[in-house]
Amino acid sequence: MRAYLSVAALLIGASCASLSIDNIAPPVSAEDAQLYRGRRIYLTKCARCHAPEPVAKYSRSDWDRIMPEMIADTRLASADADAVTRYVRQFAR
Ligand code: HEC
Repeated sequence: MRAYLSVAALLIGASCASLSIDNIAPPVSAEDAQLYRGRRIYLTKCARCHAPEPVAKYSRSDWDRIMPEMIADTRLASADADAVTRYVRQFAR
């Protein structure tokens, strides 16, 4: 019974964790290397100073306004900047 409960807790925990991160930054196929890299940057380098906000909270034009400053703050190389910019545009609301 005890083992049962901990397995259930694990499963629930795991699904909540993946749900919430996917709500913030929708998953993409690793086959699209640039987009995949963009998501990873969004969830790591872009989360250094503040928690990552859900990408779909902002429109494409919001992101076009926000990104130049955030890219500069993050000191991204241009390939990384291109990847994360493409990623947020893809999932903008
Ligand atoms: C060096 C710290 C730092 C890093 C790294 C950083 N940010 Fe920010 N971010 C801030 C600060 C400070 C604010 C709030 C003030 C502002 O808008 O400049 C902010 C605000 C934001 C906002 C809200 C803007 C608005 O107008 O509501 C978004 C969205 C955001 N950041 C996304 C990102 C993304 C995407 C990246 C990665 C490319 C990133 N941030 C990297 C410091 C950072």
